[in-house]
Amino acid sequence: MSLIRFNPMNLLPLVTFFILMNHIYITYSFPSNPSIHRDYDLQIRKLQELKSSLSQTNPVSSSRFYGVSSYGADPTGKTDSTDAILNAIADAVAEERDGVLMEGITNHGGVQISLEGGIYMISRPVKFPVAGVGNVVISGGTLRASENFTNDNYLIDLSSSSSPSSSSTNNEYNYEFITLRDLMLDCNYHGGGIRAVNALRTNIDNCYITHFTTTGIMVQGGHETYIRNSFLGQHITAGGDPRERNFSGTAIHLAGNDNAVTDVVIFSAATGIFISGQANVITGVHCYNKATGFGGTGVYLRLPGLTQTRIVNSYFDYTGIVTEDPVQLHVSGCFFLGDAFIVLKSVRGVVNGLNIVDNMFSGSNKGVDIVQLDQRNGVFNNIDQVVVDNNNVNGMNLKATVARGAMQGNGTSWTVDFNRILLFPRHITFVQHTLMTSESNVFPNYVLRNISNNKVFIESDIAVVGSVSVTVDQGLSKRS
Ligand SMILES: *[C@@H]1O[C@H](CO)[C@@H](O)[C@H](O)[C@H]1NC(C)=O
Ligand SMILES: *[C@@H]1O[C@H](CO)[C@@H](O)[C@H](O)[C@H]1NC(C)=O
Ligand SMILES: *[C@@H]1O[C@H](CO)[C@@H](O)[C@H](O)[C@H]1NC(C)=O
Ligand SMILES: *[C@@H]1O[C@H](CO)[C@@H](O)[C@H](O)[C@H]1NC(C)=O
Repeated sequence: MSLIRFNPMNLLPLVTFFILMNHIYITYSFPSNPSIHRDYDLQIRKLQELKSSLSQTNPVSSSRFYGVSSYGADPTGKTDSTDAILNAIADAVAEERDGVLMEGITNHGGVQISLEGGIYMISRPVKFPVAGVGNVVISGGTLRASENFTNDNYLIDLSSSSSPSSSSTNNEYNYEFITLRDLMLDCNYHGGGIRAVNALRTNIDNCYITHFTTTGIMVQGGHETYIRNSFLGQHITAGGDPRERNFSGTAIHLAGNDNAVTDVVIFSAATGIFISGQANVITGVHCYNKATGFGGTGVYLRLPGLTQTRIVNSYFDYTGIVTEDPVQLHVSGCFFLGDAFIVLKSVRGVVNGLNIVDNMFSGSNKGVDIVQLDQRNGVFNNIDQVVVDNNNVNGMNLKATVARGAMQGNGTSWTVDFNRILLFPRHITFVQHTLMTSESNVFPNYVLRNISNNKVFIESDIAVVGSVSVTVDQGLSKRS
């Protein structure tokens, strides 16, 4: 495919075009005159002819824009367009370009491969012919898997058959700065949507990914895949779907570090976001993928022992968060609706550096705790720097690691029971207490006897009428 280079003659039809436009504008202001009507129709016909002649003589309007229709892709989605799209991509990245990206990665200058608003059926993944491609945009249309697209594939596959370490450049990354924008990916219940393997600085922006059987977006290795302003759902539904119990796929799987999921809606899948890599951030995400009551999970953190994840400003709609042995996890500013809750699942009994603060929980008065422990694999016995506090509830049971209580009495012993609120059973590491009495001339000695079973037991040497106030904390280890 040879590209049309700049030639002043190419501009001539454009000049005519503008004059015609002007003319139409003037005649259109007198529509009541029938002769002008005919004139108008004539001009429109001329304009359409001009437009089609322009697109015939100038299919590729510049060397940085590759429209797949000029490669024979069928925008109606009736015939297989795999080869046409792969040819457009191959041409787009064939040219030698200057510019600096990571070692071994060519800067293609932001070359654009446009799907031109068409719906294209493909039977094999859209991918680059070689690794080492950088600064490329694929945008503006729909890809749909054909009936023979295999389940182990992804519609857009940013992976490389040659492993990065064995490539001639010995480069760690396959791709850098690939932008996938304004795309609808219809997996047609064959495989997944997008896979990025050892890719660096990938943008997935304004995409709608649906009908996946496996995973909507799979990120393996690499870093800085930014998934933004997108919608993912296995089935196209707007909630309350009768098939919800059977939703199976995973919308986003982050098996790499330093990625971000920002302003994304996940509307159907068994698991919204599955995370097995560190230092990822989830923000502005709305999960209503599959209700926890049907076995779904909004965000699953399989990062026992080193979680390092922030989930902020997100909306968990009938589906919650599960985290295995969280170590450095921050959940804040989130809204949990429909009895959605957070599960801490014990693997080796470690929870360290966990903040669940400043969230709102709303439920239906079924007595559901906002944070729950799954200790089937053993109890949490290594607890440090845990703050579950400052959350508010409506129709759910508040749970916290910090609590305050007071108890009125007349005698020598006071017991304040914190079991209703404290998250961990039989575990208080810090107590502050005071005895207040209005009896004059009485100076009792009082002592904290015992904090067993989340109950604080205070005794005085003489009988007094008064109250004890107690603050307890479970979140600090005995060392700190
Ligand atoms: C896949 O399906 C398309 C259209 O349905 C067809 O053109 C193509 O030959 C098929 N490929 C294979 C490998 O079966
Ligand atoms: C869910 O899946 C089961 C087993 O595959 C099937 O029998 C059932 O009809 C499905 N339910 C719905 C609502 O699709
Ligand atoms: C406190 O208990 C003592 C002994 O039982 C009783 O005499 C006294 O009236 C009680 N005081 C109050 C305020 O209840
Ligand atoms: C703590 O207090 C309870 C209730 O008074 C008592 O049964 C228990 O034996 C005490 N435990 C210890 C270790 O003193």
